Amino acid sequence: MKLTNNTIFITGGTSGIGRAMAEKFHQLGNQVIISGRRKALLDSVTAANPGMDSVVLDVTDAASITAAAQSVLARYPALNVVINNAGIMPFDNAGGVQDDEMAVTLLNTNLLGPVRISSDFLEHLKTQPDAVLINNSSILAYIPLATNALYSATKAAIHSYTLSQRFLLRDTGVKVIEISPPWVDTDLIYKSGDDRAMPLDDFIRETFDKLATDTIEAIVDRVLPARDNPGANEHTVVNAFNQSVVDNPIPVA
Ligand SMILES: NC(=O)c1ccc[n+]([C@@H]2O[C@H](COP(=O)([O-])OP(=O)(O)OC[C@H]3O[C@@H](n4cnc5c(N)ncnc54)[C@H](OP(=O)(O)O)[C@@H]3O)[C@@H](O)[C@H]2O)c1
Repeated sequence: MKLTNNTIFITGGTSGIGRAMAEKFHQLGNQVIISGRRKALLDSVTAANPGMDSVVLDVTDAASITAAAQSVLARYPALNVVINNAGIMPFDNAGGVQDDEMAVTLLNTNLLGPVRISSDFLEHLKTQPDAVLINNSSILAYIPLATNALYSATKAAIHSYTLSQRFLLRDTGVKVIEISPPWVDTDLIYKSGDDRAMPLDDFIRETFDKLATDTIEAIVDRVLPARDNPGANEHTVVNAFNQSVVDNPIPVA
């Protein structure tokens, strides 16, 4: 995709990967509109990046998404890039009793959020030159983390949905790109500095190098073996990965 002269709307722009992508696109001279629930954080990010704009949005709420989409499109009729990035990653219990409220919030945020955002923006994107839809899945779309089984399932669903969107939009001008981050050191679980986590700056640098090409999957190199896997070897890989996490747990705050 081209990395300049776009008008870009991104969900989850208040922290982590979304904020870093928004700031990188802003530095490259794009008009960026960030969104999220935390108004004070939206204001501090836009204040730190003059010219960046924001809109309050809760992606679990269909009415909030439609209101944000209408407001953004009225203010930015040249909008040509939408990035589905907002997400949460609670631990869950696929081997026992699941917290139903957590499960519903997780599905609403990680799966129905991007579904509804796409629905509210795609007809507009089809009218724009150089239109791009970016969906942020995860390495866990390919190899599930058992302690976050439902999260992993939402990300596998986003990968699947992205494949269908790319097919359905093949004869439109809308390009569909998937980002599947590895473990990146953000607040998603707990910013820990764990040396298994990719530093955010490194992740952004490599991801933008890939976005600058005509790739449809801007996937950093360390994720490629997982992307290429599973095949008949899937169980061995999934079990070894999860045993490694049992042996060396993810730090939590
Ligand atoms: N970090 C990783 O290791 C990693 C790996 C693979 C994939 N990812 C994916 O990358 C994306 C960004 O995660 P991150 O690591 O940057 O985590 P983060 O720092 O916790 O950022 C999450 C963002 O999502 C927004 N968000 C959460 N719930 C929302 C809601 N209901 N409505 C609107 N916005 C909401 C948050 O904004 P507010 O709280 O202000 O609403 C925040 O800006 C997620 O989809 C995540 O699954 C991350």
